[in-house]
Amino acid sequence: MTDATARQHQRNLLGLEGLEQESLLTLLAEAGEYQAVARRESPPLDTLRGRIIANLFFEDSTRTRCSFAVAAARLGAQTVDLTSTGSSVSKGETYVDTARTIEAMGVDAIVVRSKAAGAPAMIASAVACPVINAGDGRHEHPTQGLLDLLTLQQYWRDFDQRTIAIVGDIANSRVARSNLHGLTTLGAHVVLVGPPNLAPGSMATITRGPGSVTVNHDLDSVIESVDAIMMLRVQFERHAGSGLAGDYREFYGLSAARAARLKPDAPIMHPGPVNRGLEIDPEVADDPDRSIIVEQVTNGVAVRMAVLMRSLA
Ligand code: NCD
Repeated sequence: MTDATARQHQRNLLGLEGLEQESLLTLLAEAGEYQAVARRESPPLDTLRGRIIANLFFEDSTRTRCSFAVAAARLGAQTVDLTSTGSSVSKGETYVDTARTIEAMGVDAIVVRSKAAGAPAMIASAVACPVINAGDGRHEHPTQGLLDLLTLQQYWRDFDQRTIAIVGDIANSRVARSNLHGLTTLGAHVVLVGPPNLAPGSMATITRGPGSVTVNHDLDSVIESVDAIMMLRVQFERHAGSGLAGDYREFYGLSAARAARLKPDAPIMHPGPVNRGLEIDPEVADDPDRSIIVEQVTNGVAVRMAVLMRSLA
């Protein structure tokens, strides 16, 4: 690998898998420094003035796309937005050709979301500018993982000795995968909870520690012992709801009665968008004392500011 290629690798963020504990903690500390700007307690910065970031979103998004745009704006950079509909992707142009075309216009970084696992890595090997994965199929969603880690760090301070339940459609979730890598690298214990077809035992083997992963199919047996709970959206677009039992909500939904059994200081998380009344009941999602879904969103801006700075500064 040449020095230039090595440098480009460092400036990409394709996943949390393989990131060392120290790199993760550094990124979280950097994101922490942008929180005041993200919360609008401090004025915006102009550190990236004159830079242009391309948001290539080949799959739908509300939070991630707008959050990258807001993060870029808070750093003084500009964004160009491209989605599949309304672009030449709908005429059959490949993702790589699209990315190369946008790069040729002189953009400084590419943020990419795709249904296809591995698309950001393919694009990264085809362009010279930094590439940031904004979610690729079932594979990874590293900035979501980082914003979840940052949010948890505010509640927990340290990750070791802490246990989190990630509940729901684990098999189809890139959010679960990125969180698994990040949380276990930082020493937390993760219990993956869901029906056997959505939370297969094999998911326990994908990370390396020092934290641990277990799989459990009985939410009621773990709910009282965890230090946080992360509910996941059922990914209807990835399996069209096939195999989702009619009694899913009864066994795996976070109802008010179930939420009342959590430890009093265990926060309730969800990456959004929420299927209200399926994986989480509206009064639980909106509970101002327990739900930290809105904090997750705000922290997303701080995390993306840190990630953009790391790629571009
Ligand atoms: C997630 C995603 O797209 O993977 N959303 C997000 O970015 N906050 C989760 C989901 O869609 O369920």
